[in-house]
Amino acid sequence: MTYHFDEIIERRGTNALNTDGFRGYIFHAGPEKVFPFKDEEFVRMWVADMEFATPPEICEAMKDRIDRRIFGYSCVYTDDYYKAFSGWCRERYGWSFPREELVFSPGIIPALYQLAEILVGPDEKIVTPTPAYGYFLHTAEYNRVELLTSPLKIDAEGRFTIDFEDFERKCSDPKAKLVIWCNPHNPSGRVWTEEELRKVAAIIRKYQLWVISDEIHCDILRQGLSHIPLAKIMPNYPKLITCMSASKTFNMAGLMFSDIIIRDETTRREFCDRDKTVGFVNPISVAAHQAAYESCGEWLNQLRTYLDGNFRYVKDFLTEYLPEAVFSVPEATYLAWVNIAPCLPDVEDLPDFFANEAGVLLEGGDSLFVGNAKGYIRLNLAMPRSIIQTGMERIRDAIYRHGKA
Ligand SMILES: Cc1ncc(COP(=O)(O)O)c(C=O)c1O
Repeated sequence: MTYHFDEIIERRGTNALNTDGFRGYIFHAGPEKVFPFKDEEFVRMWVADMEFATPPEICEAMKDRIDRRIFGYSCVYTDDYYKAFSGWCRERYGWSFPREELVFSPGIIPALYQLAEILVGPDEKIVTPTPAYGYFLHTAEYNRVELLTSPLKIDAEGRFTIDFEDFERKCSDPKAKLVIWCNPHNPSGRVWTEEELRKVAAIIRKYQLWVISDEIHCDILRQGLSHIPLAKIMPNYPKLITCMSASKTFNMAGLMFSDIIIRDETTRREFCDRDKTVGFVNPISVAAHQAAYESCGEWLNQLRTYLDGNFRYVKDFLTEYLPEAVFSVPEATYLAWVNIAPCLPDVEDLPDFFANEAGVLLEGGDSLFVGNAKGYIRLNLAMPRSIIQTGMERIRDAIYRHGKA
């Protein structure tokens, strides 16, 4: 079967964060914030969900579950989900885990909040590299603990690498208790090499820290690359927790379901005891995620090829029209992390500039990515290429106009 990623699907009127929530999320504003563009005129390249339809196999599985007509309290009791998910992990990453280690959460964000609450005491600290996904900072803020950031290094081609000396310095802080590791990394798109992961693991082990490996982006890699779970590098380390979900990969973040693999039994029990959803799951979400792992390998394969094409398009576009921008095609994610500062040295608030001057919604900078992100924009490329083309042309034209002003 061939899937069609060029189809443009109307999302307005579906309560989508992507279409209706940008004022609050990007601009911390309400309806009073107006732009020279109507809401429906924006090209939306911001929040990390996709403009592509969820695979038909998943929609069918949800319909089948709806046909059972009763949606009472539900947990995951049978082995079917575990078999599907662990089979996916074994086949794709050469890694698996015992069933009893697997618990669930409505999302990785709530799991992070709850795990930090269990693992990090009032005067202890969390360590994470920057730039970082904003909710890693919010996890620390929610728990009123300090976040120690370790800036990644950037080479001339715009590729991010770990500053191991700095990372070790932060991990050696006597108050450091937990590392939140993003694998692959949002927003840089790095797929950490085995060597990099081994060095990170050695530092975590040396200081006996807890580590949460957030692997939500682990399926969306460029063709030819493969994901290495941190758990595979640290097979016997008890203080390791892995977070995964089919939500990003198959565009179903709104179904609120994620996999949390907790090795340590006491921590797992505490996580379940403190779970405010007390272990219940949405039965339609379970059906969807199971179908994803059982039936959607080929859809993912075709998605990856399409995304590779989108990245090639943006790389070529920037090389031709905005050669000062620093951008290397990421190894993972559908997000382009672009240093646009050389093109707009005098612009402080990049999302505001592009919303007002180009009619493009995007994220960027320190306020959304914790730190080490000044001058960067993040472009979501999980959409039909025709929309990306319009977005890139608007970005280019706004920069050209600004240069002439
Ligand atoms: C690194 C990372 N973790 C977690 C999330 C969100 O996870 P969830 O929707 O399961 O709460 C995102 C979403 O963009 C992300 O990029």
